[in-house]
Amino acid sequence: KKIGVLMGGLSAEREVSLASGAAVLQALRVRGYDAVAVDMDRDLPQVLAREGIDVAFIALHGRYGEDGAVQGALELVGIPYTGSGVLASALAMNKIFAKQVFAASGLTVAPYRVLRRGETPDVDSLGFSFPLVVKPSQEGSSVGVSIVRSAAALPAALEMAFRYDREILVEQFVKGREIQVGILDDRAMGAIEIVPKNEFYDYEAKYTDGMAEHICPPVLAPELYRKLLAEGEKAHGALGCSGHSRVDFLVTEAGECFLLEVNTLPGMTSLSLLPEIAQKEAGIGFEELVERILGSASL
Ligand code: DAL
Ligand code: MG
Repeated sequence: KKIGVLMGGLSAEREVSLASGAAVLQALRVRGYDAVAVDMDRDLPQVLAREGIDVAFIALHGRYGEDGAVQGALELVGIPYTGSGVLASALAMNKIFAKQVFAASGLTVAPYRVLRRGETPDVDSLGFSFPLVVKPSQEGSSVGVSIVRSAAALPAALEMAFRYDREILVEQFVKGREIQVGILDDRAMGAIEIVPKNEFYDYEAKYTDGMAEHICPPVLAPELYRKLLAEGEKAHGALGCSGHSRVDFLVTEAGECFLLEVNTLPGMTSLSLLPEIAQKEAGIGFEELVERILGSASL
């Protein structure tokens, strides 16, 4: 069987995806698979047919890769693919719809307001106190995200978020530890805490070696650790995700777990967190992880 590793793509996370894809491709080859890189573009179905791909390992991130678009194209051409399906991918990529599903499932999310391009709110009408978080609805890797500490800084933050999306969220800032849960075969494997050197775990802190400390397993009271893992699985299930994902939380001092999002195609780079959780919490090395994900490929 020939495996196409889909990578690159059209999103703001193209470079991250190329790094994830290269790591996945190497792991598959080490394990003896016939695997080729497929740089995703608008001619994807034709490229897959030309290459004679039997299975797609999706190593894309962001728009057109993580949002159900590519999954839909693969459904149309009948090629099994790794990870979540069309609906779960689309829901997870859209932070506004995802929050509605999370809240309906009894999960805790930060209070938020939605702004559409052209709307400029006056700060008081938002009903939040500073700091606020401004983020595009459908981006990853913290692209376009800012923490806003004063009214004066809000317009620039809104402008930046609107550069990436026509719908954005303004959220109440939650002071908490950044802890993420790794899911494989629909079960939580464990968790990791990130202590970024920057103000938060932004793009630079995510992809520059030494810019974030990783603590795996995180130091948490056993009960809180169990709750976090259970909520991670619940979030994955609430969106209808299948296989693997990484669920990101902010955990407050009071032990509340604020759910940020579910990443249906979490990073697979050398600094990425799902592989580290798999290794340290479940004893699953990178190549085995890739093989397990491949094994879950379906239509
Ligand atoms: N969006 C990036 C790739 C992640 O969640 O790891
Ligand atoms: Mg994300």
